[in-house]
Amino acid sequence: MSKIVILTGAGISAESGLGTFRDEDGLWAKHAIEDVATPEGFSRNPALVHEFYNARRAQAAEASPNAAHVALARLEAEHQGQFLLVTQNVDALHEKAGSLRVIHLHGELAGAMCNACDDKWVAPLVMSPEDECGFCGAKATRPDVVWFGEIPYAMDAIDAALSEADIFAAIGTSGQVYPAANFGYIARNSGAHTIELNLETSGVSNDFAETRRGKASEIVPAWVEEILDK
Ligand code: OAD
Repeated sequence: MSKIVILTGAGISAESGLGTFRDEDGLWAKHAIEDVATPEGFSRNPALVHEFYNARRAQAAEASPNAAHVALARLEAEHQGQFLLVTQNVDALHEKAGSLRVIHLHGELAGAMCNACDDKWVAPLVMSPEDECGFCGAKATRPDVVWFGEIPYAMDAIDAALSEADIFAAIGTSGQVYPAANFGYIARNSGAHTIELNLETSGVSNDFAETRRGKASEIVPAWVEEILDK
C-alpha cells in the first residue's frame, strides 16, 4: 500500500479568498517581512505584529475550504495506506474540510504562545501586547506561528515520512521558503514519485518528476480521483 505525503502552501487557500504571499498584490507586497514575520520585528513593535495576525485570524475565521481542501480530506479518509498532510498555511481550512491529521509546519493562527515561558493555548480572535500569559503572567504573548529565523515544527516526523514516501505532492507553494522548498528534492532522492500541482512554474519545479498547472480547486480533485482509482 502506497505512502503519500502532501505539502500545501498559500495557493491552495487562494480560491477561499485568503491572500498568497508572493503573488502580485500578495501579503509580502503590502507588509515588510522583517516587520511582521521575524522575532526582531516583534521585539520592535509587538502591536503592529498583533495587528497583522489579528487581521489574518479574522479573515481566516470567515473563510471556507474549497474543492482542493475537500479532496485532500477525502484522500486521507479513503486511501488504503499511510497518509501525511503537511501545510505551511496558518489557516485551519484543511481541518474545516475534514482533514484529521495536519502538521502545521509554520504554526497556526488558532494558537497563541508565551514568548517568555513557551506556554501554549488557543488564541482569542484578537490578541494584544497587553495580554498576560495565564501561566507565568508575562506580557509577552504572541501568535503560535513560525517566523523567519525560527525553527519550523515537526521536522523529524516530516523527514521520516519523506524518506519513506511513495508519492509526494506539493500543492500551491512557490518553493521559495526552506526547509519546505526542499521536500520535493528529498522525496525524489528517496525514491518517491514527485508531483507539483500549482498555478504556475515554481522555484523548484525542476525537482519534480511530474508537474500539473492550473487552479488547485480543479487540478487537485482530479488528481485525487486518479490516485483513489488506482
Ligand atoms: P507563496 O505566496 O510564496 O506561493 C503561492 C503559490 O501558489 C504560487 O506559486 C502561486 O502561483 C500558487 N497559486 C496561487 N493561486 C493558486 C491557485 N488558485 N491554485 C494553485 N496554485 C496557486 O506561498 P507559500 O509557498 O505558501 O511563511 O509561501 C511559503 C511561506 O512563505 C509561507 O508559509 C510563509 C511565507 O513567508 C512564513 O510566514 C514563515
